[in-house]
Amino acid sequence: MGRRADGEIVQINLGPFRPYLVTRPDHLQHILRGNAANYTREGVFWRPLHRLFGHSIMSDGPPWERSRKVLQPVFTAKNVESLAQRMADAIADGIDGLAEPVGSGRPIDVPAEMARIVNTAVVKIFFGDKISMADTERLAPAFNAVGTSVVFRYLLPFLPGSVPVPGDRAFHGALRTIDDIVVPLVERYRDRPGDGDDIVSVLCRAGGHDDPVWVRDNLVAMLATATETTAGALTWLWPLLHSHRDVAARLREEIDRVVGGERVRPEHLASLPYTKQVVQEVLRLFPVGWLFPRMVVAEENVGGVRLRRGRTVLISPYITHRLPALWDRPDEFDPDRFSPSRSQGRHRYAYFPFGGGPHQCIGMYVFTMEAHLIIAGILSRYRQVACSPEVATPRMGASLRPRQHVEIVLRPAREAGREGAA
Ligand code: HEM
Repeated sequence: MGRRADGEIVQINLGPFRPYLVTRPDHLQHILRGNAANYTREGVFWRPLHRLFGHSIMSDGPPWERSRKVLQPVFTAKNVESLAQRMADAIADGIDGLAEPVGSGRPIDVPAEMARIVNTAVVKIFFGDKISMADTERLAPAFNAVGTSVVFRYLLPFLPGSVPVPGDRAFHGALRTIDDIVVPLVERYRDRPGDGDDIVSVLCRAGGHDDPVWVRDNLVAMLATATETTAGALTWLWPLLHSHRDVAARLREEIDRVVGGERVRPEHLASLPYTKQVVQEVLRLFPVGWLFPRMVVAEENVGGVRLRRGRTVLISPYITHRLPALWDRPDEFDPDRFSPSRSQGRHRYAYFPFGGGPHQCIGMYVFTMEAHLIIAGILSRYRQVACSPEVATPRMGASLRPRQHVEIVLRPAREAGREGAA
């Protein structure tokens, strides 16, 4: 539909539900930034998630504003850089865990291993190591279940929440698991938050005493966004590398040259421009946050179309990132499109995997640093010699995940090099 609309705003007729589809960069800029206050996070997409995120940074209006003000300082470029060495160490420790399956020749369960590496690092550094390893391991599948079980609500947007749909049981089960972990955490720290700069302390200092529900909502929102997104994005990488040997070879060459046999350090990252391009291109083709609609507050005219009050505006980087009017051979994986010369003149909203305007992702720097540390850490030690499936395709969900279960086989780099593996 996005391609057929060719950049125009169109209304999609789904019977009682008729959202507008907006794909053109200048229109997106207007809605997400220029007149952002007129487009709120309400409606079909947000309603089912409200039960999870409540009045947190993933909501809108005053509770969102208060949450953003409290949380943003944790994620500034400066603060993230100051945590870089600790992140590098935690990620290297996580990658050590791959030695056992690689040594015994077993395939690696990619989503589970990416989640394990990301989650242990994130919990240690951003949640002040206040969540146990066992609880961290229970959270990943619970967030995953939430993300997939809301699909029925998206497919049947006109149904009121009181009418049960198939994913409800899984959704509520996952919600219980999450609350079983998060609510006692709030109780433990709300009245003695300490002076740490981790998310639990920062939130408890701001609202632990008078508003524990707000603390709970924000902890859940931050756990969901900080873990599920990064692991999901990194899962897409491996099938793409397997089916693009030229890209894999160039990436490996860069990492071998810069990192060699050392443990990856934050100082290495500035010398890995091709790794950065590969990550950008993965997020172009498979932006984890593939859909984040808005509701129109007051009627207005955009691009010659009257957007009516109360209607939903669908915004999807997945669609815009694949428009032929903006991208040459849009479905092809080509990291060189992010080379400095080819990036020149590109509209800010032609590529927006992290959104834009007041709700722009606060985890952008964290994600980028984590992704580079993980890719360089794995590829400096191992070679990918097999991948199943060879090509992964997306499945509908709150975040963009592969439909297939992705597994890879890795070999130690030295051994694979002798055998001439890819
Ligand atoms: C591949 C990784 C990621 C992608 C593609 C991504 C994408 C996005 C997008 C598109 C939005 C805007 C949503 C909207 O406008 O309604 C967003 C918001 C947000 N992201 Fe991310 N994100 C990623 C990683 C992270 C990480 C690692 C964190 C936390 C450490 C994070 C925390 C957040 C938060 C808290 C918001 C809400 C901000 C607000 O509304 O003020 N994200 N993200």
